[in-house]
Amino acid sequence: MNDKELVAHHAAQQVKDGMCVGLGTGSTANYFIEQLARRYHEDDLRVTVVASSVVSTRKAGQLGLPLMAIEHLTQLDLYVDGADEVTPDLTLLKGRGADLVREKLLVEASKQFIVLVDSSKFVSRIGERFAIPIEVMPFAWQLVKHKLEAMGATGDLRHTANGDGLVVTSHGSLVLDMTFDSQLTAQTLNELLNNTAGIVEHGIFYGLASSVLCAVNGQVQEQLAGG
Ligand code: 5RP
Repeated sequence: MNDKELVAHHAAQQVKDGMCVGLGTGSTANYFIEQLARRYHEDDLRVTVVASSVVSTRKAGQLGLPLMAIEHLTQLDLYVDGADEVTPDLTLLKGRGADLVREKLLVEASKQFIVLVDSSKFVSRIGERFAIPIEVMPFAWQLVKHKLEAMGATGDLRHTANGDGLVVTSHGSLVLDMTFDSQLTAQTLNELLNNTAGIVEHGIFYGLASSVLCAVNGQVQEQLAGG
């Protein structure tokens, strides 16, 4: 098993009978979906799952997991997802997969949020490696970009991989990838982006992770929030 599979396996072992589990998006989340499906079929584990994206919905469906639509959800027992950056206080940067609003809705609906990473994801500050993904209402992107630029940020709309179109989320938002002054703390940026009209959601997950699992030399290490 590679490091991502190892932490996914560890997280799947923590799922208890009868739980409603949120499924993240990305390569690590995919391993978790596979491990959960294995437990569902082989261990007769009773679970219901809710996915954070079209791609995770499809994967869970293909593996035979019982899916619930996000529209019917009021509460989750557990949400498991990857991250692009993790700071020492377990603030996360997420959203290379673009569907941020679903991811954050599921995190906030969940009693527990387990983050699965490999050691390449640890950074000293949010935004060290990646721009901050910001989902914006389509008609608001110019106003939001202008406002953030006035605060010193730089960036632009995210383009599709082949470069000839714009990335559009599953519910029709555009995505701005913005870089901010490195002196701004994650807490300040989180508040700034939470309070800017036209922003649907952004990639800073501040104070939301319950624990982070990372495999080092074949051993899973767990960091608890506040620990
Ligand atoms: C998607 C995410 C992913 O969790 C993040 O990009 C990590 O992906 P991977 O597990 O493939 O490294 O935030 O929006």
